[in-house]
Amino acid sequence: MRILLDEAAFRLRHGEVVAIPTETVYGLAASIAQPRAVSAIFELKGRPRANPLIAHVLDARECLEIASSVPVGFEELAQRFWPGPLTFVLPVEASLIPEEVRAGLPTCAFRSPAHPLTQALLARISPLVAPSANPSGRPSATRYEHIESDFGRDFPVLDGGPCLLGLESTIIGVLDDRWHVLRQGAVTQEVLADILGYLPEICVSDSHRQPICPGQLFEHYAPKARLILSTTPFLHCPERQSAVLGFSDRMYEGAEQVVLLGAISRPQEVAARLYDGLRELDAIGLDVVWVDANIPNEGLWRTIGERLRRAAGLM
Ligand code: TXA
Ligand code: MG
Repeated sequence: MRILLDEAAFRLRHGEVVAIPTETVYGLAASIAQPRAVSAIFELKGRPRANPLIAHVLDARECLEIASSVPVGFEELAQRFWPGPLTFVLPVEASLIPEEVRAGLPTCAFRSPAHPLTQALLARISPLVAPSANPSGRPSATRYEHIESDFGRDFPVLDGGPCLLGLESTIIGVLDDRWHVLRQGAVTQEVLADILGYLPEICVSDSHRQPICPGQLFEHYAPKARLILSTTPFLHCPERQSAVLGFSDRMYEGAEQVVLLGAISRPQEVAARLYDGLRELDAIGLDVVWVDANIPNEGLWRTIGERLRRAAGLM
């Protein structure tokens, strides 16, 4: 059910969960000040309680009021990327952020989303906690119809149109005095390096092999179909009468069904279509799908490749 901005703010203030648009993916939002709504998010998504939530704030100033300290570089990075698809993991005073939001960690993840409707919402009620608006483990939602199909027609959605980027925010945090990428996302390592002066490493677990970004432990982005990633060029579809998830500027001879993500020459287009394409496989009802994973290992493609590997259960 589509609702307008005033109603979204009203419902959030009264402890309801509302789906909100961002430039990355849709979020299932609750006011951080409404413990029952925060708890309802975990129930609705079937999300493990050990997986903390991102606090969405209006701007860096609001974030600085909550975080107990910010590492060197925070202000330059926030200036360059906020509002936008970059999430910072920062130390916080336990009393300022509910335990459930942090999943008991001494840190909280912060992001200022760029979508104008959600900026207008945050100007009225903030912070909002918001995980991606999908049942846990499934492809994220990037348009109104995805939320309707996952949560039903009566679920309140602030419809902001299809998400511009289509991939979740990049999550970064400081380890040993250097920024590291804890989840790859819409901001590439190369772009971060322009500000940092070094290429931030991807770091999934600490020296004790404990996950730094708990979400990376769990299944993600998976459609119902089993995905088989093929990294060599397709000349013919590996098995006749099967389906391929691929690119509009490539040929897949012999495939019975082809779901296209966009042109290989346009990674941004592919990113924006990725979850829609994965959901399309489910709508068609396919069991096994060959994925053309012969893609570059650079920039946005690295994030797209990581999402495909996770969707195939390879990570
Ligand atoms: O683009 C996005 O980030 C979207 C939109 C809605 O803003 N949100 C999103 O939220 O992707 P979610 O809940 O699907 O993913 C958040 C990730 C999880 O992997 C979680 O483990 C990690 O952020 N996270 C949250 N708090 C953290 C913390 N304190 N330390 C490390 N990782 C954290
Ligand atoms: Mg998610």
